[in-house]
Amino acid sequence: MNTAILLAAGSGRRMSGALADKVLAPLHGGLPSLGLCMRAFARSGCVGRIVVAYRDAEQLAQIDALAADLVPGIPLVRVQGGAERADSVLAALETIPDDGGLAFVHDAARPLVEPSDIRKLEALAMRLGAAAVARPVTDTIKRAFPAEARSAQKLEDVPRASLRAMETPQVFPVSLLRSAYRAARERGLRVTDDAAAAALLDVHPALLDPGHPNPKLTGPEDIAWVNFLLSRTSEQEPKVPQDDKPPFRIGHGYDIHRFAQGRRLVLGGVEIPHTRGLEGHSDADCLCHALADAVLGAAGLPDIGHYYPPGRPETKDMDSLDIVRGAVAKAAALGLRVGNADISLVAQEPKVAGHIPAMKE
Ligand code: CTP
Ligand code: MG
Repeated sequence: MNTAILLAAGSGRRMSGALADKVLAPLHGGLPSLGLCMRAFARSGCVGRIVVAYRDAEQLAQIDALAADLVPGIPLVRVQGGAERADSVLAALETIPDDGGLAFVHDAARPLVEPSDIRKLEALAMRLGAAAVARPVTDTIKRAFPAEARSAQKLEDVPRASLRAMETPQVFPVSLLRSAYRAARERGLRVTDDAAAAALLDVHPALLDPGHPNPKLTGPEDIAWVNFLLSRTSEQEPKVPQDDKPPFRIGHGYDIHRFAQGRRLVLGGVEIPHTRGLEGHSDADCLCHALADAVLGAAGLPDIGHYYPPGRPETKDMDSLDIVRGAVAKAAALGLRVGNADISLVAQEPKVAGHIPAMKE
């Protein structure tokens, strides 16, 4: 599962008090920078987990409220950041289980990140191992030497053709990036972006120029510029929510189990006293299986056989409510939630009417 790491633990010193908290102050449209980042990641469908590195307890209630509104169903992990950006990234990485996923590290102070950028980065990282937003430098760059008495400083040209300005998100496999940041810490190196950490392991990201500005709220002068850009993107926002996805989806599920002696009968998560149960590898709850398949189908995901293969020890006698929970979580990772479910059961026995309220529960 992929994880977004949103860095919000800085102290915003260069903002000189122009915003009380640059990642949590409302911007054009009402959402703060951190909220816009959460929404972009939720809409991208690329991550199933969000880790927010926070600065202090004052931020926590606001972070929770944003997550509840903008990323319902995506698990949120909060971790206290550290003194430097690198410390915050490593603290976040240490909370992520090793399941082979990617980490999308993003400055919560860059609110212009778009779902399509995140999807392009994921595709690049899957193909080439790692990816980062960066853009060619267009200004003429000079190195300035300390001025000598009564003369201007000396300047030296720096050829710019090979220069790139690094931004975020930056995407790396979690385990690799964690090793890289641990190595930087052990060697006492001060890395200021994720690519610099990965370079210690000789891993270099493919670079993506997103083709739109992706500024970081750094100083007071950035506020008007970021708000102007946000006012333009909200004009262009399509009227249907969720990017290019329709506002709601419909999925169908279908399952058949035969009766078997000596088995429990579980339907819709409810154990029903009966002379026979249903044959199957899990608890054989065909109502839950059909429901989970409908949710996965609506989300455009593979069916339950793909995620919960029969015949495996981990699915033996499995509680099928956990299969439903898993399907709902996978849909939530794509920004979808279940509106309602209409379920039909075809069976001559047992009588189920009395159990329906418990099943609905
Ligand atoms: N950040 C962090 N932990 C730190 C330092 C920075 O999580 N110890 C985060 C910031 O919250 C920000 C991003 O990293 O989203 C980029 O950092 P920067 O723009 O430098 O933000 P601040 O460090 O907050 O600002 P300043 O350097 O002006 O104090
Ligand atoms: Mg900083």
